[in-house]
Amino acid sequence: MPTEMISFLAQLARSPRAVGAIAPSGVPLAERITATIPRTGGPLVVELGPGTGAFTRVIQRRLAGQGRHLALEINATFADRLAREHPGVDVLQADAGNLADLLTERNLPRAEAIVSGLPWAVFTAQRQREILSAVVAALADDGAFTTFAYQHARWAPPARRLHRTLRELFEEVVVGGTVWANLPPAVVYHCRRPVRQPLVAEAGTSRSARRPSPVRPLGMPQPAQS
Ligand SMILES: C[S@@+](CC[C@H](N)C(=O)[O-])C[C@H]1O[C@@H](n2cnc3c(N)ncnc32)[C@H](O)[C@@H]1O
Repeated sequence: MPTEMISFLAQLARSPRAVGAIAPSGVPLAERITATIPRTGGPLVVELGPGTGAFTRVIQRRLAGQGRHLALEINATFADRLAREHPGVDVLQADAGNLADLLTERNLPRAEAIVSGLPWAVFTAQRQREILSAVVAALADDGAFTTFAYQHARWAPPARRLHRTLRELFEEVVVGGTVWANLPPAVVYHCRRPVRQPLVAEAGTSRSARRPSPVRPLGMPQPAQS
């Protein structure tokens, strides 16, 4: 069995609710979900929940050394492995819900593309909304957010809730055809034109009063100085 699969299954056994899938995504899904990433112009690309790197490899190939690729992974083992295997990626062991604050703390602009491998189906409604609000706050006006849901669970309450929230937070949400060559088969949501809203976390707490986001940077290349 390939080491990627062994690592994935080991983490799945340890924290099934955080990993939320039975196997890493396949290349056809990775190609589909990364198709909106600009090949030129040095974009900032953010990847949420990279796991063992199924999307990471394709994003790196697509960027071909240009732009910047930031990956937020909550699981320490996955984050360490990713940083080792992809020295060109800024890997942060961090919660995707802190994305907007992490960009601000690093003086980074809004991202041109945000690609998510997060397990939406295992998140509560509040967690889904918290993370999606951070995505909206972190995405450039003309940027694209892509994420996926498994075909078999598409009509279950968590996936329907995800789709509803996406339609609320983005002016355009296009659901792609089913990627059958994935285990399990999946559909990709392509979201554009974020509708700006105050972050949920800001409802009761001012931004400046919040604690800095807990984060562990791994192998962070510094941006080129001009
Ligand atoms: C379904 S796996 C997908 C992994 C990979 N993108 C793929 O498609 O093969 C979900 C990944 O999201 C990570 N994750 C779950 N909750 C997260 C959070 N709040 N912030 C960042 N990563 C998270 C998990 O640790 C896991 O690596």
